Amino acid sequence: MTNEDVVSQGVSGSKVAGNGCVGQKSKENFARAQVVFPDGTSRVTIERDPFPLYVERGVGSYLFDVDGRRFLDLNCNFTTLIHGHAFVPIVEALTRQLQRGSCFANPTESEIELAELLCRRIPQVERVRFVNTGTEAVLFAIKAARAFTGRSKIAKVEGAYHGAYDWAEVSLAATPDNWGDPTAPKSTAFYSGTPASVLDEVVVLRFNDVEGVRRLLSVHAHQLAAVVLDPMPSRGGLIAPKPEFIAAVQEAARNNGILVIADEVLNLRQTFLGASARYGLVPDLVTMGKIIGGGLPIGAIGGRADVMKAFDASAGRPLLPQGGTFSANPLSMTAGLAAMRHLDHAAFAHLEMLGNIVRDGIGRAISNRGAPLCVTGATSLFRIHPMVQIPNDYREAHPTPAGATLMKQLARFFAENGIILPHGAVASISTPMVRADAEFVVDAFVGFLDRHQDMLDAIEGRG
Ligand SMILES: Cc1ncc(COP(=O)(O)O)c(C=O)c1O
Repeated sequence: MTNEDVVSQGVSGSKVAGNGCVGQKSKENFARAQVVFPDGTSRVTIERDPFPLYVERGVGSYLFDVDGRRFLDLNCNFTTLIHGHAFVPIVEALTRQLQRGSCFANPTESEIELAELLCRRIPQVERVRFVNTGTEAVLFAIKAARAFTGRSKIAKVEGAYHGAYDWAEVSLAATPDNWGDPTAPKSTAFYSGTPASVLDEVVVLRFNDVEGVRRLLSVHAHQLAAVVLDPMPSRGGLIAPKPEFIAAVQEAARNNGILVIADEVLNLRQTFLGASARYGLVPDLVTMGKIIGGGLPIGAIGGRADVMKAFDASAGRPLLPQGGTFSANPLSMTAGLAAMRHLDHAAFAHLEMLGNIVRDGIGRAISNRGAPLCVTGATSLFRIHPMVQIPNDYREAHPTPAGATLMKQLARFFAENGIILPHGAVASISTPMVRADAEFVVDAFVGFLDRHQDMLDAIEGRG
């Protein structure tokens, strides 16, 4: 079923949100969940305003909650479902694989096929290892860089999310109170109890800070194994990298024997070749996840054959032993293959066309009203910020309290109007979406501007 079918048929009498239904069943589920989960959820990232929407099923880019309401899903499990929900080729391939078994302590041909596709497609990826999450992919890439260079420190960008490895979490949630001098960002703990030694082992860079990256990478050169860089960090603001910043990272790393790890767990979806190719980054290692699993858990480390040799156990114990009960399980491999095979050049052109409609439409509405907002992103990704100037980095993208409240109100307004707009995360376009869906998003945004002039005035202090 396509998105057009979902919208025109309404699917089993479902209601568009905002028709007076309050989500009673979701509310009851959340009360039950409080008894068995700390705070009622299994992920800190679950949105609850004031309770999460419990999902009954997803079809294309739409999902249906347990109260029978229909939403256009711009979250798509945190950008994972690039083909939307229940994509037929994935469902069929998975059904066939399930009938043959779900996991084995032996390799299967499907892992070779998915690795071949990635090696063929993604520049610099000559060898691959599969794991189960993006967190693990980053963790093993950092360990591989340490094993290869014999150094222990890493450098990373302030505010950039790379999963839950202690070192990768440093300065993820830095605030104006603790982030330190603009020219010497502090390493800040993400969770209470972070070992001080972890903070000492991470050099924090500011995104798009050309001079800072040159200086900090050369000061710490002999201790740094790698610089971990997401070319467009989502939590950092989904801000475009300046070409001179990418060039500075590349040059400083190369001159100092530091490996470049491109974390493309989220941004691999930007183009057929991934994100580094789009922004001129030439990494030594690439971490992947999300879309390459077709909706099943996955992570992958890819890169230069000589660096990936750290994983090589053919001559005995490798520099970096890596296992994992479910690593390269045939279900994730099969779903990932079906997803990636359908991501051809036409699919990327379609995603970019819809992304442009949404970003341009939102941008036009902002300038027509003189609203104190801006929109960032590229291809199939976008993010709205409560500020006039497009931010350059995480610090500039940090919202004021009034701005944060406005963004929450925006997500609430969208939900009331039948659209899931991630709050505090990026929104994504999926291939089943059609032009009418993109226009639906723009119309909802215009509706919000009409309705909330008072809050917009408060942001600018015009009230
Ligand atoms: C850039 C980046 N790296 C790593 C991760 C962690 O991936 P996972 O949630 O699969 O562990 C994410 C997840 O959003 C991510 O966006």
